[in-house]
Amino acid sequence: MDFELAEWSSKIEVGLPTIDAQHQQLFDLAATFRGDGDQIRVLKSLAMLTEYVKVHFREEEEMMAACHYPRLAAHRLLHGEFRRMLFDLLENAKRMTLDEIADEVKYLINGWFYNHILVADFDYVPSVKAAAISSPHAADRQDAIRLSADG
Ligand SMILES: [Fe+2]
Repeated sequence: MDFELAEWSSKIEVGLPTIDAQHQQLFDLAATFRGDGDQIRVLKSLAMLTEYVKVHFREEEEMMAACHYPRLAAHRLLHGEFRRMLFDLLENAKRMTLDEIADEVKYLINGWFYNHILVADFDYVPSVKAAAISSPHAADRQDAIRLSADG
């Protein structure tokens, strides 16, 4: 699938500070991949990116579950698809040039992930906000609580 590649910008801020900070962190990490540098360092960065994505997706899924987001199952599938692409890259990276790795990371983060935020992540925001307003304790999430405090 072809995506327009884009950098992180306020256009993809969902308005939940923890989530936005994690998204930005992933774009920052992706921006460190370039064709130069040494293979070992690039492979380490790739492992770090993969780990960070895993943590971010888990936290997002816990938040969606806590807020009874109705399309959680479909969202989980998208996360699974992305994790698989990232694991594939991690596995193949040893046989790839640094330019190829950098291109693939760009495709994944500045393409797939950027579009995922715009479409799928923005879709859960109303559920998170509604949960924060109706029962701030049940939705035991920092973001949700902060949102209800902000009105
Ligand atoms: Fe997501």
